[in-house]
Amino acid sequence: MHVVLLSLFPEALAPYLRSSILGIASEKGIARYDLVDFRDFSRDRHRTVDDRPFGGGPGMVLKPEPILDCVEWLERRHGSFHRIMLTPCGQPFTQERAGDLTEHERLLLLCGRYEGFDERIREELEWDEISIGDYVLAGGELPALVVTEAVVRLLPGVLGDERSAQEESFQTAGLLDHPHYTRPRVFRGREVPAPLLSGDHAAIARWRETQARARTRVRRPDL
Ligand code: ADE
Repeated sequence: MHVVLLSLFPEALAPYLRSSILGIASEKGIARYDLVDFRDFSRDRHRTVDDRPFGGGPGMVLKPEPILDCVEWLERRHGSFHRIMLTPCGQPFTQERAGDLTEHERLLLLCGRYEGFDERIREELEWDEISIGDYVLAGGELPALVVTEAVVRLLPGVLGDERSAQEESFQTAGLLDHPHYTRPRVFRGREVPAPLLSGDHAAIARWRETQARARTRVRRPDL
């Protein structure tokens, strides 16, 4: 999968893309990331990318020309992308959406800053507009990393088979994860639950499912 992130702060995104699961995916050749600063597509010598809103009001609006020129240049080079715009006005991001996005060969993630995008950016091209939650961040950079990580970790070969299979079952059942334990067996007087030590795989599976259901009922009854 080829992921292109369009941002005014590419240097803020670079270290995270090299770390942990995202770094492993690119080392394995499963994912490739390109960071593009759309300020490079500004048409004036001050490298302007934003301007004051028509109709007045606070903040600045991202101009259409640099962003559209940048996207069109990328698509001439690589072919078309599934285009994603990160804004608080988008559809809520979910595990199911992450799974759907794994179907695309090329993703383009547009990170906004300031008050928002000139509406003609939305009109001129087709965008999948995504919000990572009902709160407002200073820009789309963290949301773009959230989406990238949620999608890339699902690509075949990125995680161990065992982990992904286990997660799938919870995911499809709409349940929160069950509690986990590792050594020591007793920590500050707290013991690891007996079923996990029994060696009886059916009993372990039953215990985990019961725990996951109880936890989901208490914490997230909406699921
Ligand atoms: N940009 C600013 N806030 C955001 C959010 N909650 N989701 C996606 N993009 C954003």
